[in-house]
Amino acid sequence: MSKALEMERDSAAMAYDYEVVKEDFAHAGAASSDIKKKCREIGLDKDLIRRIAVMTYEAEINIVIHSEGGVITVMIMGDRIEIWAVDRGPGIEDVALAMTAGYSTAKTSAREMGFGAGMGLPNMKKCCDEFYIESAKGEPTRIKMVIQI
Ligand SMILES: Nc1ncnc2c1ncn2[C@@H]1O[C@H](COP(=O)(O)OP(=O)(O)OP(=O)(O)O)[C@@H](O)[C@H]1O
Ligand SMILES: [Mg+2]
Repeated sequence: MSKALEMERDSAAMAYDYEVVKEDFAHAGAASSDIKKKCREIGLDKDLIRRIAVMTYEAEINIVIHSEGGVITVMIMGDRIEIWAVDRGPGIEDVALAMTAGYSTAKTSAREMGFGAGMGLPNMKKCCDEFYIESAKGEPTRIKMVIQI
């Protein structure tokens, strides 16, 4: 785990980790369903829950489809929720291009399941208050999303 994530986790009231497995379509969406349930339990506003679910779901699916697998960490802090998505590569060569609506490198198999519109990353960014992405070819992709609650 990175030092930065470790420090954030220390100040979180609650932290949940979800292992996301490469090409495991059967369990894709499990993290976002679980986090949705937890947000309901703490009484968050409906629209906030919807945004958190979208952010988590899109991050989860991207790890399933495009990466070697990774972990989604959701931290509930006093004033905000942070969602971190960190995978094990293969990374994104051109991050600005990947952030462009409509850009997708999804394989035919993923497209046949309805993925590959190239809207996941733009939607994630739109749903949160702060969005950070760090990646490069041959490196892990690290995404941090913050939403004020
Ligand atoms: N975790 C990741 N690892 C490697 N590449 C990624 C990752 N996430 C996104 N990408 C790259 O960025 C592109 C755009 O991602 P985005 O989520 O916006 O669209 P998509 O996943 O292709 O389609 P959609 O999300 O609409 O089903 C992907 O096609 C892929 O090339
Ligand atoms: Mg996507």
